[in-house]
Amino acid sequence: MAQLMGYIKSAALEEKGFVILDSYDKEVDPKEWLDIEYVDWKSSGDTRFAPIASAKGEIECNGFWNHKPPRTDKDGVWIDSQMAIAPTLTERAKEPGANVGRCRIIELQPTPYGDCLYNLHQDDNNRLNPDGTGWVVRGFFNLTDDKDSYFVLRENRTDPSIEYRIALPAGAQLIVDTQRLWHAATHNGTDPRYCLITSWESGPELDAYIEKYHGTDQHEQFQVDQVVLEHGYAEQARKDAARAAYYAAKGQQAKIAMSEA
Ligand SMILES: [Fe+2]
Repeated sequence: MAQLMGYIKSAALEEKGFVILDSYDKEVDPKEWLDIEYVDWKSSGDTRFAPIASAKGEIECNGFWNHKPPRTDKDGVWIDSQMAIAPTLTERAKEPGANVGRCRIIELQPTPYGDCLYNLHQDDNNRLNPDGTGWVVRGFFNLTDDKDSYFVLRENRTDPSIEYRIALPAGAQLIVDTQRLWHAATHNGTDPRYCLITSWESGPELDAYIEKYHGTDQHEQFQVDQVVLEHGYAEQARKDAARAAYYAAKGQQAKIAMSEA
């Protein structure tokens, strides 16, 4: 809803910071994410990315503000060679008709819950975004059928009291305010997980899309054994302490907040 001041945001995301859409019910040829060109890109976890839209239409994943001239994460330039390999995914990213910034496929290697908690981060989605325009949020379309995997969303990085765990079977579709919510995926399996991530500008087009696909913030909590949860909390604390010690030794502040940038 438009406001006199501030960014335009989706009412559907206001309370919890995410919505789950109807599951995508059509087949997509795995070649769309297997044959596309990936680049190594520093992110949380063991990942690679394949951009479909980037700052200048090149096969790279840098934040738009790191280009010259620096600009916000909107008006991504579609990459013809990548779109040709992934036409269905391109079509899905364009379907809302909302402005698209970056659009890319992420490949994530298996990641246990404790590593996922360590990887929790907020995205830098709205740098240089002019006040009064649409807040940038991200769509996550799970591509592989990762029945034992789940997205983890938290309001606070080290506080498990608000933790949404959302299942990631093939076709799972969610939209997340990833600048607000700390997020990462737990990926249990032996093969990589693939997911389409699109930066969309909030506004009437995105609202209509959320409504069309029955967006809801009511989710079924993915069930995880208490033992696994507690082991994960301990792993996160252990790795955070190791990172803090590493930076302390260099006389620097530990950098907790990472972005896929
Ligand atoms: Fe992220």
